[in-house]
Amino acid sequence: MAARDTGSLLVVGLLLFIHTWGAWGAVEVNMEDRVEVELGDTAQITCMFTTEDGIGGTIIQWYYVKYTGEKQRIYYLESGMSYAEKGTPLSDRISVNGTGATGVVVLTIEDVQLKDELEFICIVKSLTVGTAEGRTKLRVFHTPEMPRIEGVQKGISVREDGLSKIGTCEVNNGYPQPSITWYKGNMPIRSVRGVINVVPSITTESTGLYSVKSELSMKVVKEDEDELFYCEIKYSIPGGTNMMETPTINVTVFYPHTALEMWIESPKGHIKEGDTVTIQCSGDGSSPSTFTISGPKNSSSDSDVLVVENVTRLNTGDYVCIALDMESFNDIIVNTSVVVNFLEDVVIKPAEIIVPKGGELQATCNALSSLPTKAAWLKNGQEVSKNHTLDVKDVTFDMAGTYECVVTAQEVEGLESSGAMRVHVEGGPKIQTLNSTEVEESMDTMVPLSCHVRGYPHPNVSWSTSEGKIVPTTSEKETNDVVISSAIVKVTGDFIVYCNATNTFGDDSVAFNIKAIKPETAIPPKKVKKESRGVIIAVIIVCILLLAILGSVLYFLYKKGKICGRSGKQDLNKGKSGKDNIVVEMKSDNTEEAVLLGVNGEKQAPNDQ
Ligand SMILES: *[C@@H]1O[C@H](CO)[C@@H](O)[C@H](O)[C@H]1NC(C)=O
Ligand SMILES: *[C@@H]1O[C@H](CO)[C@@H](O)[C@H](O)[C@H]1NC(C)=O
Ligand SMILES: *[C@@H]1O[C@H](CO)[C@@H](O)[C@H](O)[C@H]1NC(C)=O
Ligand SMILES: *[C@@H]1O[C@H](CO)[C@@H](O)[C@H](O)[C@H]1NC(C)=O
Ligand SMILES: *[C@@H]1O[C@H](CO)[C@@H](O)[C@H](O)[C@H]1NC(C)=O
Ligand SMILES: *[C@@H]1O[C@H](CO)[C@@H](O)[C@H](O)[C@H]1NC(C)=O
Ligand SMILES: *[C@@H]1O[C@H](CO)[C@@H](O)[C@H](O)[C@H]1NC(C)=O
Ligand SMILES: *[C@@H]1O[C@H](CO)[C@@H](O)[C@H](O)[C@H]1NC(C)=O
Ligand SMILES: *[C@@H]1O[C@H](CO)[C@@H](O)[C@H](O)[C@H]1NC(C)=O
Repeated sequence: MAARDTGSLLVVGLLLFIHTWGAWGAVEVNMEDRVEVELGDTAQITCMFTTEDGIGGTIIQWYYVKYTGEKQRIYYLESGMSYAEKGTPLSDRISVNGTGATGVVVLTIEDVQLKDELEFICIVKSLTVGTAEGRTKLRVFHTPEMPRIEGVQKGISVREDGLSKIGTCEVNNGYPQPSITWYKGNMPIRSVRGVINVVPSITTESTGLYSVKSELSMKVVKEDEDELFYCEIKYSIPGGTNMMETPTINVTVFYPHTALEMWIESPKGHIKEGDTVTIQCSGDGSSPSTFTISGPKNSSSDSDVLVVENVTRLNTGDYVCIALDMESFNDIIVNTSVVVNFLEDVVIKPAEIIVPKGGELQATCNALSSLPTKAAWLKNGQEVSKNHTLDVKDVTFDMAGTYECVVTAQEVEGLESSGAMRVHVEGGPKIQTLNSTEVEESMDTMVPLSCHVRGYPHPNVSWSTSEGKIVPTTSEKETNDVVISSAIVKVTGDFIVYCNATNTFGDDSVAFNIKAIKPETAIPPKKVKKESRGVIIAVIIVCILLLAILGSVLYFLYKKGKICGRSGKQDLNKGKSGKDNIVVEMKSDNTEEAVLLGVNGEKQAPNDQ
């Protein structure tokens, strides 16, 4: 090296001589102040120089500055020949291109390491006009990983004396060292003595990268429960700075209740017996507190909700809610009153009443209730009064029966109660006019008769004939003060049957005129007059039929030589017995039936004799 320097000196001297003698020249080196590169990338440091010497007279050398301040040569370039210094940390990763002929040489460093962040020197030595150097600082960058934020999980009380930890932000493996700024809402947070404290801590990883952590502590106020906290990370990149943000966190702030509120959550509106009532209590604070609600009839709850099922009027009263603060053990009390409405069973006075016919019916209907009530009287589903009192003058038998009274509590739906009253209308019996007191039947027919009798007390109804014979009553029914009595009489000739009804207030009777239809008068002259044509045609048809039957019988006897007249008589008897239950109403003026009766009568007559 020393030998080479001596040689060089000679050359320099020679060049110096040439310069002083001829044209004056100088060496100039131009380099960037700094080159910035991402860790692991390739850095290129350019050295530009001007010299009037040819390539042959120029020596270019690359150095870097050690931490001690010493220069360490890493590359040497002379007369088109170049070689890297061996045994330096950069030896394997550097190369230089350009021969110097163009006045540009580039030092390329591959896979840049953090320890490469050094000052590089390019020295250009001209044999004739001297030496010049340029310096470039190499800057290395590494983008940190995504930052993390962690908030405290437990709630923070506003009554806490000191500062409470809010959370921690952390960002790892950045180079150069990233910075963390806390934000509350959109405002950056700065430490304020006794109120806010931001404590950063920096770790240098074994790789040389930096990890930064920042812990935020502060005095929490009630308003902080609505605030969002986050961190902003600033870090350098080649050519500038960049930033990242963490997600936000919020804090649970505990502050004491100053007032309680208590309300009936359900049902809305009036409460009635049988309802399920939900009472709720709530405070304006957030401190952990134990709630208790209690009310009449030992109803209580160890929470902020009390549910009382199937309430009765005994649940009416004041309900008290107590919130006990678990930190200060102060309690707050609030109360609310609950009214359970009720409607008792209907009381009708009188429950049963006997009114003289033509008299006045008066009754009242009431039900004990916590609310004003409305009443309505109904008979057979028809409303007869819209009042608690029922007042009817000039009572008739039609007004006897069952009355229903329905009482409803105003304003509360579903609160309803009802009861019934029995009304008897006192008076002598009254037999309902029957539409058929004239009965015409063939002999021996069993005729059912019935009469409907009104009157109270219930009349005794009896049946008898005009000759004074008692006719047994077959059935007697009593509904709604109407007695229906029935009897059956056998037609044995013309006579009268009485239906007699009697009670303490009088009597009434109805006569049934029973007429027997004689075989001779089977076809009444009245009817012949009326419908002579139809009857004559029918008689002719019957005669033809009889002739036909006679003809067939004669033919039969002639063919078989047998007598079989008796069986025919038996069949006719059967037909007669089936006709026994003819009802009164069947006695209509129908042509066909009249004929049928006539035919039966004709056949019956010889049998009876
Ligand atoms: C240096 O070499 C690289 C390829 O290795 C080339 O792209 C670049 O242009 C060269 N620079 C100069 C100044 O010759
Ligand atoms: C606060 O965080 C909790 C979960 O930690 C979340 O449920 C709540 O919505 C957050 N509140 C706000 C205002 O972001
Ligand atoms: C309330 O509870 C106490 C004890 O449990 C009992 O003696 C008392 O009779 C209860 N009162 C009512 C109204 O149920
Ligand atoms: C509600 O209470 C009444 C009277 O105490 C009782 O008869 C009824 O069975 C109860 N109903 C329910 C659903 O508990
Ligand atoms: C309920 O609160 C009122 C005032 O809000 C108070 O006058 C009353 O005494 C309280 N009743 C009970 C039972 O605590
Ligand atoms: C109900 O009856 C009372 C007296 O009994 C009477 O003053 C009132 O007007 C009646 N109301 C109606 C709606 O009829
Ligand atoms: C006659 O009375 C019967 C029952 O008694 C009834 O069904 C019928 O409708 C009445 N006829 C007339 C015309 O009123
Ligand atoms: C039934 O009433 C009729 C007519 O009123 C009367 O003639 C008859 O005697 C009464 N019979 C009895 C048993 O009362
Ligand atoms: C009805 O008849 C019975 C016996 O037949 C008798 O004891 C009763 O007193 C009578 N009632 C009236 C109201 O006549």
